[in-house]
Amino acid sequence: MGKGKIILAYSGGLDTSVCIPLLKEHYGYDEVVTVVVHVGQRDEEIEAAKKKGEQLADRHYTIDAREKFVSCHIAPAIKANGSYEGYPMGTSLARPLIAEEVVNVAKKEGASAVAHGCTGKGNDQLRFDFIFRSHDLDVVAPIREMNLTREWEIEYAENHNIPVSVAKDKPWSIDENCWSRSIEGGKLEDPSFHPPEDIYVWTVSPAKAPGSPETIRIEFSGGFPVSLDGKRMTGYSLISELNHRAGRHGVGRNDLIEDRILGLKARECYEHPAATVILTAHRDLEQLVLSRQELAFKRMVDDKWSELAYMGLVYEPLYEALNAFIDRTQERVNGTVDMVLYKGSVRILGRASPDALYSSTLVSFDGTAIDQCDAIGVSNYYGIQARMLQKNKKRKK
Ligand code: ARG
Repeated sequence: MGKGKIILAYSGGLDTSVCIPLLKEHYGYDEVVTVVVHVGQRDEEIEAAKKKGEQLADRHYTIDAREKFVSCHIAPAIKANGSYEGYPMGTSLARPLIAEEVVNVAKKEGASAVAHGCTGKGNDQLRFDFIFRSHDLDVVAPIREMNLTREWEIEYAENHNIPVSVAKDKPWSIDENCWSRSIEGGKLEDPSFHPPEDIYVWTVSPAKAPGSPETIRIEFSGGFPVSLDGKRMTGYSLISELNHRAGRHGVGRNDLIEDRILGLKARECYEHPAATVILTAHRDLEQLVLSRQELAFKRMVDDKWSELAYMGLVYEPLYEALNAFIDRTQERVNGTVDMVLYKGSVRILGRASPDALYSSTLVSFDGTAIDQCDAIGVSNYYGIQARMLQKNKKRKK
């Protein structure tokens, strides 16, 4: 009598594929149910994962969570300018949703155990485990628990008729959702190694990007992008189209050393064209409509939000409280931002908002709405303590 049923968060990749026979042979489960959650991976990926899941597992689910991903996880990230160590975070935004969808399948299937294919070195194990354990499920993580290496996995897969799509000379570990694509592992683990051009698939090399610039206009409502070049779109289609358009201009690549949750430094390569463009526009618009005090305070809130999101701690009460603060500020983040895409860069051309805290009549050198003489009195007081100190220093010389 085996251990019954287990639900596996499945991607179609090597790690999660070898988990299927391992959960039976090594762990003694009778039935393995695979779940692929569609958060914007390329169609071929989803199709391939579905085919593999159906072939290798006892039952397979493909869950389309694309719009939910955008409205429940990307939208808060845009509003919070969500970025970690200088790049727009992506993987961490999708993990809680993927985990929750797996939990839903576990409930439906009456299973009390779930599995994932994370190693014991990365962040994703912690993000998944946190959600699974919050729902009182037993967690099995074969790659971590059995201390498996990729070489061992490739051989095991070959012996178990599991199609291996990783070529031995290009063994990248890739994670993809509509907000970002990350590439790590293999030769990239040498931080001095120059990545080959073909690790990138969403973006062209800036050197090969078109020689003529392209302008775009994004409209925001409540801090969220609602139209592109005047055309209203759902969040998901706007992001997809921007990935395509900005990717064509080589916008949104990153190659950096990142501090993981456990403390390990890792070399990561990313491409996130839409995220780069949207966050650039969003920050710019906030600068126009939020007060100086709000902006300064929100920068701290955004940092804390990003840290919690990176750690996957979306049930942390502080995360909810920060979202409430951020949502309140975003009520006034309405308007349009014009930008130009050119050879790997995105640059602001102009912005406009009905909620702008900006007045050209006040600031203009030509305007008379403010009597310039009013500033003289302020200037008399300005920096008075520091000025006194300078006087004292001179006196003592
Ligand atoms: N370092 C990023 C993060 O922790 C991305 C990791 C993605 N995983 C991968 N196998 N490429 O969010």
